[in-house]
Amino acid sequence: MQQPEWPDGTALEEVVAELRDLPPLVFAGEARSLQQSLARAQNGEAFVLQAGDCAEAFGDFQADAIRDKLKVILQMAVVLTYAAGLPVVKVGRIAGQFAKPRSSSSESHEDLELPSFRGHAVNDSPFDLTSRTADPRRLVRAYQQSAATLNLIRAFTKGGFADLNQIHVWNQEFVAGSPQGRRYEQIARQIERSLRFMAACGIDLGADSRLHEVDFYTSHEALLLGYEEALTRRDSLTGEWYDCSAHLLWVGERTRQVDGGHVEFLSGIKNPVASKVGPTATPGEVVALCERLDPENEPGRLTFIARMGSGLVEEALPPLIRAIKEAGREVLWICDPMHGNTFSTPAGLKTRRFDDILTEIRGFFAACHEEGVAPGGVHLELTQEDVTECLGGSEEVLDQHLETRYQALCDPRLNARQSLDLAFQLGEMLQG
Ligand code: PEP
Ligand code: CO
Repeated sequence: MQQPEWPDGTALEEVVAELRDLPPLVFAGEARSLQQSLARAQNGEAFVLQAGDCAEAFGDFQADAIRDKLKVILQMAVVLTYAAGLPVVKVGRIAGQFAKPRSSSSESHEDLELPSFRGHAVNDSPFDLTSRTADPRRLVRAYQQSAATLNLIRAFTKGGFADLNQIHVWNQEFVAGSPQGRRYEQIARQIERSLRFMAACGIDLGADSRLHEVDFYTSHEALLLGYEEALTRRDSLTGEWYDCSAHLLWVGERTRQVDGGHVEFLSGIKNPVASKVGPTATPGEVVALCERLDPENEPGRLTFIARMGSGLVEEALPPLIRAIKEAGREVLWICDPMHGNTFSTPAGLKTRRFDDILTEIRGFFAACHEEGVAPGGVHLELTQEDVTECLGGSEEVLDQHLETRYQALCDPRLNARQSLDLAFQLGEMLQG
């Protein structure tokens, strides 16, 4: 399901053959480390922050943009770690999030019907025939942009930028002046003081790489099966198959059929995998997904990303958690408070309310507590930019502001201030 209509099958085959010969983007050992961290989150000993754009854009590919997105995620992780006293597992929707499932395969305006926009790995968003025609060369460009993005992420996270001594630098200018930005500065100062205290006690802080580097993992929806298969390689150490396009791959709400091609694909790779689950999912379906995707019941192997909607989560989620427990299985539960809360304004802009996002996270925590599993993390759509795509937050984006800086290629994202605001509120929930 959800595969583009490629106009030229031979051209697609040629591209897939080319991709098969290109180097892997991530390594099997990294995917295994992520799985260990996810296993800790499953036990309540860590918290997952999975975040990034709904759809990455070919045009949005500057070093500054990647660095600033990383800043937002690092800042949020500091706030959460400080509040909860738990390690935060950082996973980006980045370096590969270029393909989108669509509710309808075509879109009509007046008399013209054209294929839907499916992400920059497939076609382009302007409403004209050339832009909307699927072009397999875009798969190679998606691979190259993923490689370059990942290279920068590795440099930033291992090369000094993610050093805890840089904690002030992560506060971008337009964030620093806001109440959340100032609250962040207070935490940053306390962390600095703690580091000075430890150094004064004679602890050699320079020697511990954990203070100077972070582990940052990549993830995207495994939607385009030709692309994902071409990047699936046999690990030379274990002989197992890994999809080396990202550390973590997920199936979306529209492609999670137990007998469908996407689940079949995920069942054959050793990476940690995830499935979105919306309000129509049944207990039977989620248990069947566990059997299909995680037959050995391995810690950290399978994550369910609940995206129920703020009004439904408390009712719809507990029966699913219970069914999985009763089947004797353990998975990681995280909350996507974005995709069940999208609506269109009268002017036709897709948006989400900050309050609905918070309400869904609260409902998710309540459901997890009720059923005795760890609320293991959140899955967010956000950007480093000062956009006006989601409504609300402490510096209220109002209906009439939405059009001023609405840049989303697909779904509406939290801006950097709203993201930090959310991290503080989430930190309070974790303390509770
Ligand atoms: C997404 O994550 O952007 C998405 C399309 O989500 P879902 O499959 O949950 O609708
Ligand atoms: Co989205």
